[in-house]
Amino acid sequence: MQYGYFDSKTREYVIDKPDTPAPWANYLGSPAYGAIISNNAGGYSFVKSGAAGRIIRYRFNEFDKPGRYIYLRDDESGDYWSASWQPVGKPLREYKSLCRHGTGYTQLEAEYKNIRSEACYYVPHGAEHEVWRVKVINKGNVARKISCFGYVEFTTDSFYEQDQVNLQYTQYITRTYFKDKFILQTINENFPMGKQPEHVKSRFFGLAGAKIESYCGDRAKFIGNYHDYGNPVSIENGRLCGTLNYNMNPCGALHTVLNLAPGQTAEFSFILGEKWEKPARELIDRYEEKTLPDSEIAELRTYWHSKLENLKVQTPDDNFNNMINTWNAYQCFITFVWSRAASFAYCGQRNGYGYRDTVQDIQGIIHLDPDMALEKIKFMISAQVNHGGALPLVKYSHNPGHENKPEDDSYARETGHPSYRADDALWLFPTVWKYIAETGNTGLLDEIIPYADHGQDSLFNHLKKAIDFSLNNLGIHGLPAGLHADWNDCLRLGQKGVSVFVALQLYYAFEIMIRFSKFKKDSAVEKQMAELKERFGKIIEEKCWAGDRFVRGITENDVTVGKPGDPEANIWLNPQTWAVISGYADKERGKAVLDLVHKELNTKYGARVMAPSYVKHAFDGALALLFNQSTKENGGIFLQTQGWVILAEALLGRGGRAVEYYLESCPAAQNGIAEIRLMEPYVYSQFTESTESPFEGRSHVHWLTGTATTVMVGSVEGILGLRPDIEGLLLAPAIPSSWKSFTMEKSFRGCKLNIKVNNPDGKESADGCKKLTVNGCEMQGNYIPASVLKPVNEVVLEM
Ligand code: GLC
Repeated sequence: MQYGYFDSKTREYVIDKPDTPAPWANYLGSPAYGAIISNNAGGYSFVKSGAAGRIIRYRFNEFDKPGRYIYLRDDESGDYWSASWQPVGKPLREYKSLCRHGTGYTQLEAEYKNIRSEACYYVPHGAEHEVWRVKVINKGNVARKISCFGYVEFTTDSFYEQDQVNLQYTQYITRTYFKDKFILQTINENFPMGKQPEHVKSRFFGLAGAKIESYCGDRAKFIGNYHDYGNPVSIENGRLCGTLNYNMNPCGALHTVLNLAPGQTAEFSFILGEKWEKPARELIDRYEEKTLPDSEIAELRTYWHSKLENLKVQTPDDNFNNMINTWNAYQCFITFVWSRAASFAYCGQRNGYGYRDTVQDIQGIIHLDPDMALEKIKFMISAQVNHGGALPLVKYSHNPGHENKPEDDSYARETGHPSYRADDALWLFPTVWKYIAETGNTGLLDEIIPYADHGQDSLFNHLKKAIDFSLNNLGIHGLPAGLHADWNDCLRLGQKGVSVFVALQLYYAFEIMIRFSKFKKDSAVEKQMAELKERFGKIIEEKCWAGDRFVRGITENDVTVGKPGDPEANIWLNPQTWAVISGYADKERGKAVLDLVHKELNTKYGARVMAPSYVKHAFDGALALLFNQSTKENGGIFLQTQGWVILAEALLGRGGRAVEYYLESCPAAQNGIAEIRLMEPYVYSQFTESTESPFEGRSHVHWLTGTATTVMVGSVEGILGLRPDIEGLLLAPAIPSSWKSFTMEKSFRGCKLNIKVNNPDGKESADGCKKLTVNGCEMQGNYIPASVLKPVNEVVLEM
């Protein structure tokens, strides 16, 4: 079933059936002032921390309540509804609505009994408050008297857990005031000021552009006993009673009356934030200027769209186009900026950046905003410890050069991470490579960056140390130890147990170092890396290859995980895909293992992370067993890994397969089966339940997931074949034979590339392509040296 569609012109996803199978959300603002909003206006807002800076209440795991509600009431008939379908939930026969989730804003449009409303929710760019711009239009031919009410439920404490459960305390430290244009809520206002000001808070909810008729600052009075958000007693009464809270639950509720002649529009804004009385008043006053929201919304569009313009594709597949041009790209930015800070699944308690997650998240935006990527690369490098390992969690308060680390008890206490992961620092290799290849900024290799704990080094030496860390932590058979875990959080291979995925990542790291040292003409390092590559290549061949597949790991008791004949988990996806991505497997073997993957792991919703799921034969450190079968790391379709299978197939030149995997797990391609997938059709999830689940195809953990990035990389580098290196750009699309032509507009090192790919013979790869021209000049093979580029370039590839 379908609940909405992609509007590619406006870059919006438009929901025309509001009774979606799950709350379908959007992100507003940034973690400095962050807001999450569903298609029914549910969600929450916070300042700086999703957990510790929560300003409006949201009950996790209760669908999407409460939210930012706007109620409308016909004062003649007493009939009332909401500007979002929920919470009042009028019959959909009479109530028409559209939710437009856009880049940094969400507009909810509704029409009920000839009254149209448009509520546009947004956080102005760089601002620390939010705006609900409301328009109410009388579409009928008689005059109407309409009451409009805005409602928010403030938390009683900035820390959401205190707000939800420590009721004997937090209910008695808050009160609200009415200040002509707004409700002001205070927390801990009796605290001696200046002593612990972080505990003293003041929030406001105001109205600009319309006259306040009545107000309420007490949740119980607003809703009324035995009433709910869908039928608040004060909305029934058509008036707010003026009660302000003194203890218990605060709220902000404001009422205005609109007398609308036929065709007339009323326009005003509700403003919400965490500010003291004076700045709150000044801010609300600014919104008396009714054109301000229009310019702020336009600014948000320009900000986001200008980034997204840096790669625009037009292929025969609209689902692919909508994802690559807008939604996958936008999700990459959201995960990049928000990390795993706050969603409807993450409450915001992780107080930092997961090292591996963030270093990978960077990859998703490099082709769209390399400068933004660069800043984060340097930041993450500064979270590498002097011995080469990486801090598993980089605190938001990260202080390079002065940080504690997993060896210190204090680090474990503060972050909950007592030890190193085997893979964290190794993610730097693909990320730094992609950045330097995209930009040509090789100077970065010599840039001096501090370590997390002490000392500093060039970026090149940071990378060398990342390799040292793996070499200093070898396990049995001389392979890299799995340590606390590798990419897979559920693998505990034991002190000396080893990870094949990490061995392949390390192999890839040697290759990247060879490229960088060649560029730097550092023949000593080049030689050292080539020797290491050969040495590890031999061990991989000897210990990790099981005849028809790569195994997943070897435990400290020398038990091989993921070998043929094992009753469970006998084939794992990542070592097969990474054997190809790392360059370890040659084409023939790569194709053979990926054929096996297709046979053993592929399902209609993508390839499983391993199979069969663990039930009875898990080894001692196989924490995946704790999950139900076909769920998450236990044989589920862990979607982050789909990007790698797409990339691996594309690198082998099998475009048909690459796009087959792409479409199986593509949210847009599942727009018509929303009742199965449940999640937003414009957003990747963390995982999809696979074949052994009674709910095969159901997807979970929206928005903040590494899936966004790996699929973006698999699509851009893999399917579209945009593969830059230090000197230029290889153009190597891997597409289905049915794609007879497509175009791309790409920004590259300050130049514009208008690329046309023709594929009249229905090939799947650019291997042995007929011809590549740049501005009419024929290139050698399918490579464009950066030196031939002009400010604007016409590129034609004949496959
Ligand atoms: C989650 C974690 C990520 C990990 C993955 C697989 O997505 O955020 O760090 O790699 O699970 O276990």
